[in-house]
Amino acid sequence: MSGRDQIEFSFNGKKIEAAPGQSVAGALLAGGQVELSRSAKYRRARGVYCAHGHCPNCLVRVDGVPHVRSCLVPARPGMLVATEGATGRRFDVYRSIGAFGRFFPVGFQYRWFKRQNLAWRLWEGRLRELAAETEIPASFEIPAAERLRADLLVVGAGPAGLGAAATAAKAGLHVVLAGRRARLGGSAAPAVSDGAASAELRQAIDLVRTATNVTVIAPGTVVAGFGDQYLVDRGDRVVEVTAAASVLATGAYERAVVFAGNDRPGVLLTSGLHRLVLEDRVLTGAQAVLVTENDTAYRLAGDLHRAGLGVRAIVDSRPDGPGPVADPPPDIEVLTGARVTRVRGRRRITGVVVETAGGRRTIRCDVVGMSGGWQRADELRYSATSSGDAVVDGQRATRIDPAGWEHAPLPVLQGVGAVTGTTDPGTAFAEGAVAGAWAAARVAGGTELIAGALAALRGGDVLGGSHG
Ligand code: FES
Repeated sequence: MSGRDQIEFSFNGKKIEAAPGQSVAGALLAGGQVELSRSAKYRRARGVYCAHGHCPNCLVRVDGVPHVRSCLVPARPGMLVATEGATGRRFDVYRSIGAFGRFFPVGFQYRWFKRQNLAWRLWEGRLRELAAETEIPASFEIPAAERLRADLLVVGAGPAGLGAAATAAKAGLHVVLAGRRARLGGSAAPAVSDGAASAELRQAIDLVRTATNVTVIAPGTVVAGFGDQYLVDRGDRVVEVTAAASVLATGAYERAVVFAGNDRPGVLLTSGLHRLVLEDRVLTGAQAVLVTENDTAYRLAGDLHRAGLGVRAIVDSRPDGPGPVADPPPDIEVLTGARVTRVRGRRRITGVVVETAGGRRTIRCDVVGMSGGWQRADELRYSATSSGDAVVDGQRATRIDPAGWEHAPLPVLQGVGAVTGTTDPGTAFAEGAVAGAWAAARVAGGTELIAGALAALRGGDVLGGSHG
């Protein structure tokens, strides 16, 4: 990439360069800015953690707008980015609170201050400053909400959501597709960029980007649903979408692993590390340790290694290690039945302390990826249906069985992909495609669209394809 392609923006008055398409958080990290915010209680430093809009760590002010998640916003030329509250200050008097943390019991929080009746006025202002960590502009206009009507709303732009949106669009439905990140493809986005994704997935992305009957809102976070109405936060305004049918393809949250210092900048969820390295192209040359309680680290280690991140070791708490792994990590030390007890380093991470049956040792590294398992991102179903009953089948959102699905009752909201426990991208895409056809049936109430959608599915070999 030539220097002319680089984007420049300002961060706390300093010039930062970004590659086209790179997120603000990725550009800041590449520029050496690891601390983006601080915790409200102990003022502990916070850096990029999930890189997917699921945590408060990367909040910054962008062009005067407070509390913007910098991992979701692509860098634009000339944008003014700043840390909020005291984060950017050299001297933050409240940081000393952390030194007394051991004297504060778990759960010690603002209610204690509230009991100090006379002093409450003093506390209140300070606590607000610490908690909100930003200044609301003295006057601002709330842009009017945009209103859209659609036959189908698809929430989530990973393989499952794209399968649903593309199939429904081919069947003639008006589709709104809302994706949390600007890049389409979800967990398969790096494969899409590299041209390694399946033809069906790439065609689906082309179709939703170009079809006149599809509106893509990305980045756009669906924050609430009420029956057939949903609110999508587009960043600059709210979009109200009214849709006859909806597909929930919201994926899953990766969980943290418990060890001392797991909230420090430089410790990320493994999926967040994967996004930063493969999508934002940062952290190449760094040395990582992956801490895991499931097979995720093994699946992603090969990608990270090929992208230039040195993966020194995988520390797996399970005595038997992983199940069969399709892409075994190349030449990486694997410690099973082992656990990380803490990270080392004052300002930057310099290593992790690992306990194994043979004793304790330090592994040097400057970044840590952790994966404590996955939890379905299915809270929207409760908001959209009050109880979640319309889509819940036991512990799961309703799965769509391709065999005989034409005759099954139609739920208000269909769950597909990782939100129902399907983690393979190819299977998720196929589930989404069936959901799109199902939505066509629901909206049209007839069989012609189903036949068309099925022909599209089978013609594109959607149900049998591979979608790495
Ligand atoms: S929301 Fe940006 S790092 Fe989690």
